[in-house]
Amino acid sequence: MGHVAAPVAVITTDGPAGRLGITVSSVTSASADPPMMMACINRRSPAFAAIIENGCFVINMLSHDHVGVAENFAGRAGVFPAFDFGCAAWKPGQAGGWLLDGALASFDCTLEQSVDVGTHRVIIGGVQHTYLQPAMTLLHFRRAFHRPEPVLHNS
Ligand SMILES: Cc1cc2nc3c(=O)[nH]c(=O)nc-3n(C[C@H](O)[C@H](O)[C@H](O)COP(=O)(O)O)c2cc1C
Repeated sequence: MGHVAAPVAVITTDGPAGRLGITVSSVTSASADPPMMMACINRRSPAFAAIIENGCFVINMLSHDHVGVAENFAGRAGVFPAFDFGCAAWKPGQAGGWLLDGALASFDCTLEQSVDVGTHRVIIGGVQHTYLQPAMTLLHFRRAFHRPEPVLHNS
């Protein structure tokens, strides 16, 4: 899948198991009615246990100026230590995770189901609230971050 472009998200969670986040590209919608979203999380990642135990998460779809945030929650230290929420501005969601300032879309979810698949677990969230902001998406393609540009301009 590194050979094709994918939007990038940071999933955050907070609660008794702690405040954690993880950069992912495995996000998709799972159901329209009720609205549900899903993502695949490596069971060895620090955020995994926290998402399951807290029972809530926010899927923040990143904008093109969130490259530093994507790097940070993929475990790469820059100006801020890896996984440090100081790398961006956040607001608390209602289900328990954190909404990223400037995210294209944030889906505030409660954990409804999860299924082990090999090294990962598919987490399925019931969307309690959706927040949209005007921004350009961030894509990951062949090990680098990109922003899309139109190849055909409709007149
Ligand atoms: C663009 C991108 C997409 C990623 N997508 C996923 C994903 O869908 N699921 C996942 O578990 N990890 C994904 N990762 C890896 C995690 O972000 C990373 O493994 C995690 O933050 C833990 O860091 P560590 O492997 O250094 O412990 C992705 C990383 C990047 C840079």
